[in-house]
Parts: sequence; C-alpha cells; structure tokens
Amino acid sequence: MKDTQEKLSTLTIALHWLVALTIIGLIAVGIYMEENEAFSLYPIHKSVGVLIFSVVLVRIVWRLINGWPEPLREYEVWEHSLAKLVHWVLIIGTVAFPLSGMIMSGAGGYGIPLFGLELVPMNVDPANAEKIVPYNKDIAGIAHEIHVLLGDIMIVAIILHVAGALKHHIADKDQTLRRMIGQQS
Ligand code: HEM
Ligand code: HEM
Repeated sequence: MKDTQEKLSTLTIALHWLVALTIIGLIAVGIYMEENEAFSLYPIHKSVGVLIFSVVLVRIVWRLINGWPEPLREYEVWEHSLAKLVHWVLIIGTVAFPLSGMIMSGAGGYGIPLFGLELVPMNVDPANAEKIVPYNKDIAGIAHEIHVLLGDIMIVAIILHVAGALKHHIADKDQTLRRMIGQQS
C-alpha cells in the first residue's frame, strides 16, 4: 500500500494527478473569470476550490503517514534542494489557495457555495438587494491579496516543477516521471 523506491502507491499517484490538474484548471479559470468579469464562473470556481480542499487535506495526511517519495538516485545537492523547496511551495500553496479563497469570499460577504448548497450565506444590504456588505472588510482584503499573490507564486513553482519532471525524463532519462504515472522503475 505504501510507496516504495521502485513503485509509488495508487493513492499517491491518484492524489497527485487529481490535485495537480484541478489546481492548474482553477488557476486558469480564476485568472480568466477575474480578467473578463465572468461572474457566472465564480460559483463553479468556488465550489471546486472547496471540494479540492478536502482532497488536499487527505493528501497531506497521506504524506505524513507515508513520507515523501524517495529519489531514484543521488542527485546534485542544488537539484535535490530545489526540487524539495518547490514540493513544499506546491503543498503549502494547495492549502493556502482554497483557505484564502474561502476567507476572502466568506468575510467579504459574497458567500461560499458548494454546488447549490450555501456553506456561508451572502450578506446582502436589507435596504438594497444589489449591495453586498462585507462581514469583515480588512480580513477579506488581506485574503484577496494573498489569493492573487499565490497565483504568481504557484505559476512559477509549477513551471519549475514541470521543467524538473521533463529534465528527469528527457535529459537524465530516468524513471521519475514514469514512476508518477504508475510504472515500476
Ligand atoms: C485550490 C483552489 C483554488 C485555486 C488554485 C484558485 C486560484 C485562483 C486564481 C489564480 C485567481 C485569479 C487571481 C488573480 O486575479 O490573479 C482566483 C480568483 C478568485 N478566487 Fe480562487 N482559487 C482557488 C480556490 C478558491 C475558493 C475556495 C474560493 C472561494 C470560496 C475562491 C474564490 C475566488 C474569487 C472570488 C476570485 C476572484 C477575485 C476577484 O474577482 O478579484 N477561490 N482564484
Ligand atoms: C502536469 C504537470 C505535472 C507533472 C508532469 C508533474 C510531475 C511530477 C513528478 C514526476 C513527481 C515525482 C517527483 C519525485 O519522484 O520526486 C511529482 C511530485 C510532486 N508533484 Fe507534480 N507534476 C505536475 C503538476 C503538479 C502540480 C500542479 C502540483 C501542485 C499543485 C504538483 C505537486 C507535486 C508534489 C507536492 C509532489 C511531491 C510528491 C507528492 O506529494 O506526491 N505537481 N510531480
């Protein structure tokens, strides 16, 4: 069930790709909907973000129980340190993204939906149904800044991470990428 150096467990592989592809999708949708004021996409972005948060928590518990996948051989110190640093940024980012999103929308009064369910209700001004009243404007503002900043940080981290995976595959010709798609090394 646990990862070995030769083979990663199905759970590690499934969680990696489920979280990875969802995060990439949410970053793309997030930037698109914000730039184009595509408000119909907001509830979908928020709902998928809330859902993936629960998967991210399972992944972290699994990482704690299982440990990190072992490198396939001794790499240069800089290479190993950079890969580890990027893995930490990615893991922390997967927690901080949905958390900051929920705090921003919740405290901002915009509400947190989960596909039709209202986890946190909108706070509408009783005198003007068009007007959203923040529960806490300062906290919502800080969470918004963090959510936007994370977009930049995570895009850089994902580019470095994918470049590393391709370097293993193309330049080093090792099994690192194959191992992450379930093949035995
Ligand atoms: C892993 C989960 C998530 C990712 C990767 C993600 C990513 C992003 C990105 C990249 C943006 C564009 C930021 C920019 O302007 O540059 C964005 C916008 C936004 N996100 Fe998320 N998000 C996630 C979860 C959530 C959650 C759970 C919520 C709320 C419950 C949320 C609410 C929003 C809102 C309201 C905006 C638009 C902000 C604006 O109009 O200024 N996000 N998201
Ligand atoms: C399509 C792009 C991606 C590719 C090709 C890819 C590839 C890989 C590979 C080959 C490994 C194994 C490294 C090793 O054995 O040491 C790995 C590990 C990892 N990847 Fe990705 N990855 C991608 C996207 C992402 C994204 C978007 C995230 C985070 C949001 C992510 C987070 C991680 C983490 C945290 C690890 C460490 C092992 C684990 O926790 O499962 N990856 N990735």
